[in-house]
Amino acid sequence: MEFIWSPAGSVSLIGRVSVAIAALLASRVALGDTDPLQLPVILDPASPPAESIRDLFLLVLAITSVIFFLVAGALLVFVIRFRNKHTSAETEPPQIYGSMPIELAWTVAPLLIVVVLGLVVIRSLIEIKAEPSRPGEVKIRVTGHQWWWEFEYPKWGVITANEMVIPVGTDGQQRPIHLKLESADVIHSFWVPRLSGKTDLIPNHVNEMRFRTSLKNTYLGQCAEYCGTEHAKMLLRVEARTEDDFQKWIDIQQKPAVENPEVAAGRKKFLSLACANCHTISGTPAVGTFGPNLTHLMSRQTLAAGIIKNTPKNLLRWVHDPQVIKEGCRMPDMHLSQAEAQVIVDYLLTLK
Ligand code: CUA
Repeated sequence: MEFIWSPAGSVSLIGRVSVAIAALLASRVALGDTDPLQLPVILDPASPPAESIRDLFLLVLAITSVIFFLVAGALLVFVIRFRNKHTSAETEPPQIYGSMPIELAWTVAPLLIVVVLGLVVIRSLIEIKAEPSRPGEVKIRVTGHQWWWEFEYPKWGVITANEMVIPVGTDGQQRPIHLKLESADVIHSFWVPRLSGKTDLIPNHVNEMRFRTSLKNTYLGQCAEYCGTEHAKMLLRVEARTEDDFQKWIDIQQKPAVENPEVAAGRKKFLSLACANCHTISGTPAVGTFGPNLTHLMSRQTLAAGIIKNTPKNLLRWVHDPQVIKEGCRMPDMHLSQAEAQVIVDYLLTLK
């Protein structure tokens, strides 16, 4: 298809882009209880791989900025200095063949720049890839699903979703983390810019990622490979906590689900519906693995892969009709009455 540029076309393109941005902002606001536009932060590394990427970015930016200002400056000078001062003249300027030294210079210089940039990129890649296995490494298996993340801690038999909890080293030491990245369906990409670069999660293939940090924090990330309708709503959080807090979290996650007799009706309702086919709640007949493990749902801060806060009100809206919050997501509208949804939510709220 031929692309013809026209002012009208560009206006409508700009229009469409602004409408899309406005819609995105509106949807964020309309969801309520959402942190306003919490986006992943880049260029503020908290781990060695992220540092190499930031340094590489700044180097490339510096080199390309110099080129930009040289070219734009020269263009400006020539436009002003050699403009046609006699507007009536219709003669062409003299046609001259260029000069050999200049031809050589602008062929060789870009070639050198490309080689230098290529080499530094390769060096950074090797540096990140060669990160060795270190003692005390925490191993986590990450599985990408349409459109959520599953985190498994094989050493402790813990499975959770969308919010990865990791320990930071003690005394300013960086605790090494080792991720095995896999996919249950299509290609996704794990990207938490403050911790490391993007790495794809590919079906039937295991990729690895290593990073280490000493900074207690919440690191925001995002799926970085288009993976279907709800790709943009496939956010992720990494909670880096102290060793003690991490251990406490593990202890809670290892326990079976809380069984509170006061919400027996909600539990029964949950187990009688298709919910149990997709979700696991340990200690109950619900052992589905298609959706996130809900055993300790209330230990998580967000719902629907990081797009809304995990509050009772949001949970009710989510259970009542997930399609309103995340259109096209794999969790269907179960056509529950408000009362039925409430009974299930009352039960879910006890899953601490
Ligand atoms: Cu998963 Cu994009």
